[in-house]
Amino acid sequence: MLFYAFIVSCHQTNALNTLKQKPSQFSSSTNFLFGAASSCYQFEGAYLSDGKGLNNWDVFTHEPGHIRDGSNGDVAVDQYNRYLEDIKLMADMGVNSYRFSISWARILPKGTFGDINMAGIEHYNRLIDALLQKGIQPFVTLTHYDIPQELEERYGGWLSSRIRDDFGYYADICFKYFGDRVKYWTTINEANLMADRGYRLGTYPPARCSGVFGNCSAGDSEKEPFIAAHNMILSHASAVRIYRTTYQERQGGMVGISLDTQWYEPYSNSSEDIAATQRARSFYVNWFLDPIILGRYPIEMVQILGSNLPSFSKSDLSNLSYGLDFIGINYYTGKYVKDCLYSACEHGKTWSEGSYFVTTEKDGVYIGQPTVVDWLFLYPQGMKKIVMYMKERFNNTPIVITENGIAENDNLNPSIMDTLNDIQRVNFMHTYLNSLANAISEGADVRGYFVWSLLDNFEWLDGYSLRFGLHYVNYTNLQRIPKLSATRYKQLMYNFHIQL
Ligand code: NOJ
Repeated sequence: MLFYAFIVSCHQTNALNTLKQKPSQFSSSTNFLFGAASSCYQFEGAYLSDGKGLNNWDVFTHEPGHIRDGSNGDVAVDQYNRYLEDIKLMADMGVNSYRFSISWARILPKGTFGDINMAGIEHYNRLIDALLQKGIQPFVTLTHYDIPQELEERYGGWLSSRIRDDFGYYADICFKYFGDRVKYWTTINEANLMADRGYRLGTYPPARCSGVFGNCSAGDSEKEPFIAAHNMILSHASAVRIYRTTYQERQGGMVGISLDTQWYEPYSNSSEDIAATQRARSFYVNWFLDPIILGRYPIEMVQILGSNLPSFSKSDLSNLSYGLDFIGINYYTGKYVKDCLYSACEHGKTWSEGSYFVTTEKDGVYIGQPTVVDWLFLYPQGMKKIVMYMKERFNNTPIVITENGIAENDNLNPSIMDTLNDIQRVNFMHTYLNSLANAISEGADVRGYFVWSLLDNFEWLDGYSLRFGLHYVNYTNLQRIPKLSATRYKQLMYNFHIQL
């Protein structure tokens, strides 16, 4: 058997008690945050309740053709109404933190072009208070892909520099109303993926791209991802400046950003593939982290993109100097990277100039065992590698694993019993956590780990067919049932702690 028997001992009780310490005592191992993650659009539902405004995903999912099963997040898993039940599930698992996002359009239904929706504020106050009552620290994301539709329609959302102040304004409201109790903030979830999918591939709202990359024509895939990203970076900076100058001293929390990561492994050990791998890292994660932490774009981007890459003014740089307190890493899988500058790439282009190509396969062999999720190959060793890479590049800045998880696919696995008996998820968490523990043993300053996800939920373009939850959701009556992984999480946390 892969796991030690469940040992109910004073050791375990002590280990779990240390998980409940206050954030002021938050340090690398003993006060490690362990939790599950979610996001408002994927979980809340209640899409027009209590004064909430429309956001970009409300509008996008209602347009036919975008979501594979034709579904949307109007009801999702109804966490807006069922949060007390969900907090009980968290308490049963023994986690000490919950990662969720605030719906921007629930707080500001019309962005800056309208009033604060006090019913939205009250909702999150109730959620935060109920979490804290159970000893669960709220770990809050300000935007998880969603922006008020009004901002999209009035000025083009992330494509306009106006969003920097508007995001700051929204963040300020959240710090003001919730920051007395929320000690962990993430500004933007997967900003890199949003820029890529929203403005290069055109698969996420606002679905902009040029014909070369997809079958849409409204956007410019060579330029717009970099403009949107530039505004995201400076929006992060506005929020952090406000937090540092007005709230942080009094409230004593931390603020970071979460990025989508993949571990990029060179396709071969040729110097060309190694350089291509560095380009891939720069064009995806360092794209955001270099400006925020080092105050400049990665050199590879500057060289390849030339004038397509926006530049930072003096005042931008002064805002950027507020940096961040932790790097949020969403890590699931690995990929190979192959050079396209010096060798012909048969499979088409990735970024501008097609300087590298990313693939999951080499000589007919996948980088890791395939799963039912087409983009997810098991690559636990990448967890340690990505953390060590960040440690080296960013001078051991604290890291939080803000997402890590695996799914079952309803279309391939129709039996509920198989879904509930999710041994594969237990093994997944076990191997990825081992890899993380190794990184910590080698000196990485990792402060927390969140499984994606607390419950099965709305998986974006895949609708409800992919089930990422530690808990099964019956989509007919919204009943939640713990999967095996939910009951094993305590043991996994314990095993992790004793390895450190
Ligand atoms: C990353 C995203 O942040 C989350 O919303 C999504 O559901 C998971 N990955 C799984 O794809």
